[in-house]
Amino acid sequence: MKTADATILHLLRSASQPLPLPELAQAAGLSPAELAGRMAGLEQAGFGIELIPHLGYRLRETPDRLIADDLAALLGPGDRRIGREIVVFEETGSTNDVVARMARDGAGEGLVVFAERQTGGRGRLGRAWASAAHLGLWFSVLLRPRFPLTQWPRLTTWAAVAIARAIEKALPGSRAAIKWPNDIYLRGRKAVGILIEGSGAGDERFAIVGIGVNVNHLEDDFPPEVAARAGSLRTSLRGNAPPDEPLPPLDRPAIAATLLDELDRLYPSLEERFPEILAEAEQRSLLLGKWVRATTPGGMVEGIAEGLESDGRLRLRGREGQTLVFSGGEEVTLS
Ligand code: BTN
Repeated sequence: MKTADATILHLLRSASQPLPLPELAQAAGLSPAELAGRMAGLEQAGFGIELIPHLGYRLRETPDRLIADDLAALLGPGDRRIGREIVVFEETGSTNDVVARMARDGAGEGLVVFAERQTGGRGRLGRAWASAAHLGLWFSVLLRPRFPLTQWPRLTTWAAVAIARAIEKALPGSRAAIKWPNDIYLRGRKAVGILIEGSGAGDERFAIVGIGVNVNHLEDDFPPEVAARAGSLRTSLRGNAPPDEPLPPLDRPAIAATLLDELDRLYPSLEERFPEILAEAEQRSLLLGKWVRATTPGGMVEGIAEGLESDGRLRLRGREGQTLVFSGGEEVTLS
């Protein structure tokens, strides 16, 4: 753990019993007076910490806020690549831009930047990405892949599979489907978008995996232009319940940690076992086996979505039996 706060939060979050003050102080490398000071700081940040006489400290509640030390605490002390450095902004234009700047300043692979709110969130194909405050997880991961630039479509496939797994872990019983190349659907609604950007110019070599997850939105929280097809992890739990039934909010920090964990766990397979990632992406695909329409700069083409190529590109079989391959710069929808 990098900081005393991360250590304290990790111990408090993992404890089933109140933690005696001397034990906590020693683990965090603090004097009892310093520990009391840190506890006051954490309470100010929204953590409900109780001191039970003769027993010690207990965590009663946690805030619905993304806090770098708390995310580190949730991830735990093990070695990791993705999430080895976490930065949280209350507001920024686009987390992809922040990571690009930090990458140019030499930031290391695995840096993750979250923003509670984006004022210029971007989606694919030049679209805007609505990033309302404290409702979702808007974040970008810095990667420095060793494989050639031509293989970069792999990154979207890896991210989509890892995110689908994380969502199913966070919401047991759910089913996360991938709409190629970069959307995750829950119960027929788009809940996640992925935007990969990067640079391979000259000496510069990095990829930014931007991820937007709608977590605690209710139906009215989406802008009208996307409301008909957007959903959130929370709305996906409504199932057959009536729309006026209250849905409790989900634990965003815990979901953020689960996402980073799955991205990290699957990262070695990007280079070593990519066919396994591809097979899972195919099995989760909303498009495969269906008749789809691809809108390309050169016009519109239709065909059966047949499978994914070895680097994650989509293969269609056209009307005349011809093979058509798409890399992600096109809009592909069900016909
Ligand atoms: C899409 O569905 O078109 C992709 C949406 C990607 C949104 C995320 S939110 C975090 C990161 N910062 C951005 O500006 N975009 C991505």
